[in-house]
Amino acid sequence: MFRRQLLRLGAASLSLGVASASVSLASCQELKLPPVGLGLWKSSPGEVHAAVRSALRAGYTLLDGAAAYGNEKEVGAALAAAIADGDVRREDVWVVSKLFNTHHVWQGDRTRPHAGLAKTLAELGVEKLDLYLMHWPFAFRQTDLKAIGGLRLADGTPNPQLEMEMEYLDTWGEMIKMKEAGLVAHLGVCNFTVEQLRKLAERYPDATPEVNQVELHPYLAQPELAAYCRQHGIALMAYSPLGSADSYSGQSFPAKGAGTHETPRGGATLLQNEVVGEIARRLGRTPAQVLLRWSLQSGFVPLPKSVNEERIRANADVVSWELTADDMAKLAELDCGFRYSIGYRTGHYDVSQPTSRRPARPRLSAHANGAAQGPNCPWTRTA
Ligand code: A2P
Repeated sequence: MFRRQLLRLGAASLSLGVASASVSLASCQELKLPPVGLGLWKSSPGEVHAAVRSALRAGYTLLDGAAAYGNEKEVGAALAAAIADGDVRREDVWVVSKLFNTHHVWQGDRTRPHAGLAKTLAELGVEKLDLYLMHWPFAFRQTDLKAIGGLRLADGTPNPQLEMEMEYLDTWGEMIKMKEAGLVAHLGVCNFTVEQLRKLAERYPDATPEVNQVELHPYLAQPELAAYCRQHGIALMAYSPLGSADSYSGQSFPAKGAGTHETPRGGATLLQNEVVGEIARRLGRTPAQVLLRWSLQSGFVPLPKSVNEERIRANADVVSWELTADDMAKLAELDCGFRYSIGYRTGHYDVSQPTSRRPARPRLSAHANGAAQGPNCPWTRTA
């Protein structure tokens, strides 16, 4: 049922090149995913059109969108304009979207996922998605989030009015039908733990996800999850590869960072990390490029978000050079299980999946999501 297709990438991918031999994740190569995609989360209507046009001109061939990002109409319009202007051919672009929690199967109602896909296809103005991902393993009862005051509170924590269930098995069954109907070419999940991937594989042994998209960067390398995915041929896509400095998930930053580098919400931004900076200076690269190259060499497909033309171009220039094993080892030292994005339910990340290889410092309290803060996290939590 899920025979993996080898998609051919056309001329538009050439300027970005293909992943180097050191990128070892078998399923990335099997799927022929591009080495880097444009992240569309947090790109507002009004700015995302220009970002998509810039990215497609710069050689990006993967647009990582989602219904929940609220910008699919504009993404679709930009894609259509790029095709009309001859920048790119539709068949050369991976158009990716995600089924949000509002459109899971809810208490036996199996119509919701199909309504979610129909809306996304209509807004994007495409007949078929190249990759459709389940955004989270949670179902919400509410479909109108505005009516309850939005998805999250101002501090980034989930709106307590949300009624939710851990539901992904029935929803995945409906997603399989979408593939069978020819509406999506490939299927995957996001934010899944090893335990959830295992449960899905038990129920659907012949139709396992081809992709798991999760938060991945040197502070959150997720070695156990990466090993599982590698072993089972699941490609890993990395969101927030630059440390998501503009993330709304303010609560996941320490209330006040004691390190020298802080974002407006406190905590440390990877882009200003000293280890990253030292490697970047030595190689004549930017910190962002070092982080993206780390992601590539770790076998991930990084999805940097940018709405700035120059940064969009620079973020793609990561395929023709390499980090040394020594630099990779230094970056591996930064892993401390720190998440910028909060899950929707306590226990989602912290119980089922240890994220840190390092013991927590006794004087540091637990992270908001329960992950340990290791000795190499450049901050202390004071709250
Ligand atoms: P902007 O959109 O203005 O470029 P992530 O992908 O980890 O979520 O990070 C996105 C954040 O990083 C955004 O604030 C984005 O801002 C910024 N950003 C993207 N590319 C770069 C870059 N090359 N250098 C510095 N900041 C960047």
